[in-house]
Amino acid sequence: MMEHVLSIDSFSTEDLLALFRLTDRIKHYPDRYREVLSSKVVATLFYEPSTRTRLSFEAAIQRLGGHVISTENARELSSAVKGENLRDTIRVVHGYADAIILRHYENEAADIAASVADVPIINAGSGSNEHPTQAMLDLYTIYSHKGRWNQLSYVLSGDLRYGRTVHSLVKKLSESPNVTIYGLSHPAFRLPEEYIALLHKNNIPYHACSRIEEIPSDIDVIYHTRTQLERMEDSDESVQEIIIDLQALNHFRAETILLHPLPRNREIATEVDQDPRALYFAQSKNGMYVRMALLTTLLGE
Ligand code: CP
Repeated sequence: MMEHVLSIDSFSTEDLLALFRLTDRIKHYPDRYREVLSSKVVATLFYEPSTRTRLSFEAAIQRLGGHVISTENARELSSAVKGENLRDTIRVVHGYADAIILRHYENEAADIAASVADVPIINAGSGSNEHPTQAMLDLYTIYSHKGRWNQLSYVLSGDLRYGRTVHSLVKKLSESPNVTIYGLSHPAFRLPEEYIALLHKNNIPYHACSRIEEIPSDIDVIYHTRTQLERMEDSDESVQEIIIDLQALNHFRAETILLHPLPRNREIATEVDQDPRALYFAQSKNGMYVRMALLTTLLGE
């Protein structure tokens, strides 16, 4: 059976819980999984820069005994430069690989790739639209620390307009009972209306705000993000960022956890890194284990 991973929408709560149980088993007993992909070749095709997603997927493939073929800068170093369109590239690469992990600057790229691919397409970030495997590792990190991702209060902060990791996370939180969300951003970077409408449709309270002081201190999860400078329009240029330093973090209680998909610019002060509430580096390491579990589920024998 071929399954694409295009949107977090395709994963039910039960699917995610099964994935997270497998992630825990892989984390604790890695030796049992070291030949799961021994006969598989996986292509990583990245048209946008990446450190975590590409390297954690490639580490995941290799730790499962699989083989990687890769273009880390497909926009400049693949035959896209000669004018080849994405459909044709996928039609070629699916002849070489058992799955294709695709990052692209166009919102529709993963769907276009899936429409012509004979092997699973895994969306590793599509424009400002979605980043479903990031949402998986974000939810896994929350689940690992809180035992659930429903019945929690969240602050989503930073660039809620262009941040695709926020968009994938909101889709899943919109299906989660008894969640409350505060959207903390400069007004120019507010969550797009379609996501707010989705939350309202599912009776998830959403409060847009622009100052930390407007938010109650007993929040469970802060999910902070960088300003996506590469997606900004000229009119956005004077925007003030939300900065989380120790003083800002201390507005919240000791049990609050702080996540960030990384890379971090200046929106989290480095003085916060040693605080036990700061989980972003553990979160990025979880990404490799969650991706091992996903690849085992999709391709494992
Ligand atoms: N979080 C994330 O997608 O990081 P990279 O852009 O480094 O892959």
